[in-house]
Amino acid sequence: MSYPYQIKSYEQYQKDYQRSIEDPADFWSEIAQHFTWKKKWHTTLNWNFKEPKVEWFKGAKLNITENCLDRFLEKSGDIPAIIWEPNDPEEHHRILTYKKLYEKVCQFAHVLKNNGIKKGDRVCIYMGMIPELAIAVLACARIGAIHSVIFGGFSAQSISDRLFDAQAEFIVTCDGAYRGQKDIPLKSVIDDALIGNRTVKKVIVSTRTRTAVSMIKGRDVWWEDEIKKVETMGLTDFPAEEMDAEDPLFILYTSGSTGKPKGVVHSCAGYMIYANYTFINVFQYQPGDIHFCTADIGWITGHSYILYGPLSAGATTLMFEGVPTWPDAGRFWDIVDKYRVNILYTAPTAIRSLMGFGLGPVHGHDLSSLKVLGTVGEPINEEAWHWYNEHIGKKKCPIVDTWWQTETGGILISNLAGITPAKASWATLPLPGVQPILVDDQGHEIVEKEDGLYKGNLCIKHPWPATIRTTYGDHERCRTNYFATYENLYFTGDGALKDENGFYRITGRVDDVLNVSGHRIGTAEVENAINMHSGVVESAVVGYPHDIKGQGIYAYVIYQGSHQQNSHGTADLIRKDILQTVTRIIGAIAKPDKIQFVSGLPKTRSGKIMRRILRKIAEGEIDNLGDTTTLLDPNVVDEIKNGKL
Ligand code: WTA
Repeated sequence: MSYPYQIKSYEQYQKDYQRSIEDPADFWSEIAQHFTWKKKWHTTLNWNFKEPKVEWFKGAKLNITENCLDRFLEKSGDIPAIIWEPNDPEEHHRILTYKKLYEKVCQFAHVLKNNGIKKGDRVCIYMGMIPELAIAVLACARIGAIHSVIFGGFSAQSISDRLFDAQAEFIVTCDGAYRGQKDIPLKSVIDDALIGNRTVKKVIVSTRTRTAVSMIKGRDVWWEDEIKKVETMGLTDFPAEEMDAEDPLFILYTSGSTGKPKGVVHSCAGYMIYANYTFINVFQYQPGDIHFCTADIGWITGHSYILYGPLSAGATTLMFEGVPTWPDAGRFWDIVDKYRVNILYTAPTAIRSLMGFGLGPVHGHDLSSLKVLGTVGEPINEEAWHWYNEHIGKKKCPIVDTWWQTETGGILISNLAGITPAKASWATLPLPGVQPILVDDQGHEIVEKEDGLYKGNLCIKHPWPATIRTTYGDHERCRTNYFATYENLYFTGDGALKDENGFYRITGRVDDVLNVSGHRIGTAEVENAINMHSGVVESAVVGYPHDIKGQGIYAYVIYQGSHQQNSHGTADLIRKDILQTVTRIIGAIAKPDKIQFVSGLPKTRSGKIMRRILRKIAEGEIDNLGDTTTLLDPNVVDEIKNGKL
């Protein structure tokens, strides 16, 4: 197998880029010829960013699983599709060849059907990182149901909100999940999420930890029992549902600057082609390579670069259940060594945390199989970049710094491994088909350099195949969030720099979205959660630089009466109560790192919180707060400064 559209040289990149800009429809239509279609498209692209409307390959019919499974069965059915490494290194790993994965997906598609699930239904998937998660996702796609995977770290309340928003009628979960030393009781979280829920009809539970679970008659069924039924009925192949190119493939919730996560919707055809194209080109995947993306499938990175990108390329993808630091901080290097991993794709936060353990855990592992390293999720600082380059890649592996978002479905800006130049902590050049532009707050293109660089808000001028199609159930929200800030542009929410070579460096979010350990969290969401605590009067949340996490969460809280001497205990206890509340409402990932009690917040006369000041204080820049005279009560600033944690 070879990939006819794999870019082989810098010159070819430049040529392909040029072509993709001059005639995007023609460019993508040529790439799309290499996929399996039930019916070809009549219109390659139809779009306007005003509504917004983005339609690729209109009129085409397909099923993404035929492109990820069926088309490889004949020639490469016996090569591993998924290598699964369990949490506990003592437990046996599992290998699912393309043939095996195909059989399991078909079987589970029958299970879904037997349980009343059909095309267009929303299925919420809340599972640990076990092969059954991949099988469940693909089986949904096979039957045409819309999957919405929820990361295992979200709380019952978060799940309940998402179930409601998606009007989901079905859930696939596990009894529990292993993560390092912890067992997470997933089914019991689902049970809490379902209290008062009237839409969910069926919960399919896969066994992993065999934690005690309550199985409600008529609603809850065991995965294994359902599979047995299918076997007894002699059901094997499952004909792939015929999907329109623009039918939704999945919903994935992500945080924005409002208090409520948005259900980002991706389509079947455009998403598939873009995930595949970027996978093959950015990582320069060669048949036989072992690709190890350390993300969780609960995030977009797992969707695109553990599952759909690699599988649509007939690649071997490694799925890891555990965490990088258990049983020790050498776990990634163990895995690289054990499976002779060729491509390692991880997050800067993981690199920084592993750096903290020194070189001991790296030593004694043979990392010579590595060819390509990648990072994603947040800006990578130069120190981490150099450590990764020297100690993991041994200066022989190109590092791809891939910038993209849940909404973009796949990588938009990145060097191509070994093909286009790399630059430490720069994402560098746009992928073919991607037209970035830097604008000022009024939407004018930045044409003047500042200290030798262009600096502005990062937007995209033209749709690429995996552009966000809508936010589930609320198209207007999609418009106002992404397409209304600047006319005719998709606004990313990120700030960026551009150098004279056209290389981009992403500087981070310019909106109220935090990036904590590579996880997106909206400050408004965290504030809402804190405000749920009975004693809290008001709160304001900002980010601050954190050595490992990239950004930490800093919360300023006004507490009823005095937090110092409260009938409910000391300030520390109240802090713990607040953390507990956030864990309940969102999940442990959104817990503030610091909570400072204050008697007031810096507000303008019109009542708006001056976050800029709070951000500066949290960052430790207390002597450089700018003009505070317009504040309603400038004295609160001194109090906050003095009480800084
Ligand atoms: C940030 C993750 C700098 C950025 C795929 C973006 C990055 C947000 C990079 C999206 C990178 C992602 N360099 N920043 N290479 N990659 N980001 O939706 O702020 O979880 O807007 O998607 O992560 O996060 P999301």
